[in-house]
Amino acid sequence: MLKIGVCVSGGGTNLQAIIDRVKDKTLHNVSIEVVISNNKNAYALERARQNGIQAVCLSPKDFESREAFHEAFMSTLDSFGLDLVVLAGFLVILPPQMFPRYNNRVINIHPSLIPAFCGTGFYGLKVHEAALLRGVKLTGATVHFVNEETDGGPILLQKAVEVKDGDTPQILQKRVMEEAEWTLLPRAIQLIAEGRVTVENGRAVIGEGGVAG
Ligand code: GAR
Repeated sequence: MLKIGVCVSGGGTNLQAIIDRVKDKTLHNVSIEVVISNNKNAYALERARQNGIQAVCLSPKDFESREAFHEAFMSTLDSFGLDLVVLAGFLVILPPQMFPRYNNRVINIHPSLIPAFCGTGFYGLKVHEAALLRGVKLTGATVHFVNEETDGGPILLQKAVEVKDGDTPQILQKRVMEEAEWTLLPRAIQLIAEGRVTVENGRAVIGEGGVAG
């Protein structure tokens, strides 16, 4: 059983996609142990509670210093004995002590085809605004392992999505979620649960066989 923790900051539609796939058993041998948010008003926390999943709010604002927040964040993660941490719209920079401790055990969903429109300052709607401003005809989503470099870790899965005339950032965001994010993130978790993913020379490699963990 792959024990996962999901970190969220907002609405949590990607979290919902994971919950739904666990429920319908598309995602098997996976258990969502905890949902952690930096934002007490995140609807994602409500989604967790409604599904009987432990919901924890850890806001940097509630701590004396960034270091104290980082320590609390790390000890919360550690206390759940997680195999995998999933960043699903988590807009907080991870504590430096995450790495190498959680090396190749943290994945993130990003709403573009990395390396386009990623890195510091590119999150949420800003990504889609930048894509429309640049006039790209294809965008998409990427699931990647997380390392010290923002959006710079090994790429695990990507899916392209068409940009259409008349798109607004909101319309494009919705299409990228519907056509890419909500399937890509559960699929990445399943591949990891099946023991099919390794990182070799800084690149994620998806293997054949299935050893369910
Ligand atoms: C998603 O589009 C996700 O890809 C993005 O935030 C949104 C969260 O939506 N993440 C980033 O931009 C990370 N750089 P959700 O709360 O409805 O899942």
